[in-house]
Amino acid sequence: MPQQKSFGKKAGIIVPLALVLSAIFWFGGSAINLAQGARLGLVGLVFVAMLYALLLAIPKPKAGEKSFFQNIKFKIPVVLVLSVIIWYAAGAFGFPIWWQIEFVTFALVGMFFFIILDLRPMQPETSTGSWVRRLIGTYAIASLLFITITAQLPQFNPAVEIEKLNKPPIKLSGLAGPEVIQAGREVFENNKCFNCHKVFWEGNSDRGPNLGTKQVGLFSEEYLKEQILDPRLGQSPGFEDPKSKRAMPTYYGDDLSDDELDALVAYLKTLRDPTHVPVEGKLGDQWTWWDDPDIIAQGQKVYQGQEPATEGLNCSVCHGKDGIPMMTGALDFRNPENPDTTKIPGDHDPRVLKNWPDALWYKRVTRGVPGTPMAAWGTIFPHLYLWKAVVYERTFHDPLEKRTEKTPIPPIPTKEEIESWKDQGLFLDPLL
Ligand code: HEC
Ligand code: HEC
Repeated sequence: MPQQKSFGKKAGIIVPLALVLSAIFWFGGSAINLAQGARLGLVGLVFVAMLYALLLAIPKPKAGEKSFFQNIKFKIPVVLVLSVIIWYAAGAFGFPIWWQIEFVTFALVGMFFFIILDLRPMQPETSTGSWVRRLIGTYAIASLLFITITAQLPQFNPAVEIEKLNKPPIKLSGLAGPEVIQAGREVFENNKCFNCHKVFWEGNSDRGPNLGTKQVGLFSEEYLKEQILDPRLGQSPGFEDPKSKRAMPTYYGDDLSDDELDALVAYLKTLRDPTHVPVEGKLGDQWTWWDDPDIIAQGQKVYQGQEPATEGLNCSVCHGKDGIPMMTGALDFRNPENPDTTKIPGDHDPRVLKNWPDALWYKRVTRGVPGTPMAAWGTIFPHLYLWKAVVYERTFHDPLEKRTEKTPIPPIPTKEEIESWKDQGLFLDPLL
């Protein structure tokens, strides 16, 4: 039996060794881009091992070797209980499941490490050299194990996780906040858009379309930007005459900064009317979407699920391609005498289908009939296309070619009416 080393001598080796190892893990880990958490874990492991080694170094009064069973007898139950505690504690603190797995793995690796440390030495320690070699070897195995296992787990990036939590809610209509909209309104005034465009009741020139009753807010931001930056790209329906074609200035791309353009578009996006279909054309020769063959044809595509912009929406699977309902209970658009639904408490319109006001069509199609397969499509799909589908649906009981007169142009909404849309929550989103 070789002479037992004194505790002081052993500690004199263990502590500096642990410090050196910690430094290696810390800086080496950073050099190979190990996540900060993993480096902290490694250093923590070194310190736990150091404490344990120091405990082992305390000379025992009765120096009997432990058997393997004695070695693991307490460690396994302790680690199992510890793992359960760690698992639930980490869960209670809201760590993602991969983190819980990682923490528990950490505890298991620690146990394995302690078991190795406690193993009966293969041969008696002959020199300080062999003793140190063995200690380093043990550290190396444990560390290798730790790195290999944790590297298999998904790496955690705090910045990404925080971003996930701060994700903004889904935008219904690409609408900016009130300040931006107000700023956009000023851009509109300052750039003399009112010289040619009315906005509902405001303005006094009809050279260009009334951007309010046309409801340019239904159109996509991309479309609006395109029309402002390159007005010759496409003509507003009813403004195809040579004079109108050349009217809209082409210099806004130079005059407006990116921010001004964004704000302007944010303002234009608020120009919608939940109580009427859009109105097209020049004053004196105007028409509503109800009587617009192009819009009806586009609405047919939406209704039949062929419009790419509303992929996943297909009215005909329930209401029938020919208007013959495929689903029991779905409204039959062929019968002009059909009543409004009675399934929405406190919200039933006594008028029959042929007399429905635009506002009722819009409300039912955007908000649906709760508790039935008729979903609130307006929370999922752009309202531009829902209006088009509605316009097409009407042709099932009122075919375009049989109409003897055009639908009258609704009066331009007043300031008070526009205010009331906001107050009565007629829009799905807080628009104005
Ligand atoms: C000098 C007259 C004039 C001015 C000023 C003018 N526009 Fe126009 N704008 C027109 C005319 C005419 C049309 C219709 C012909 C066309 O589509 O180019 C039009 C079309 C548009 C359209 C497309 C509407 C549609 O049906 O697709 C938008 C959007 C528009 N203007 C926005 C603006 C904005 C925003 C401003 C101010 C920054 C502005 N316009 C200034 C005359 C004008
Ligand atoms: C998944 C099946 C389904 C789809 C898809 C569907 N509907 Fe419906 N729709 C129904 C059902 C069922 C009803 C009857 C609800 C009730 O019981 O009052 C209904 C009722 C309606 C009504 C009448 C509401 C009232 O006041 O009675 C309108 C208008 C309507 N749908 C339009 C549409 C349009 C437009 C689309 C496509 C954009 C569409 N629906 C897609 C199933 C569907």
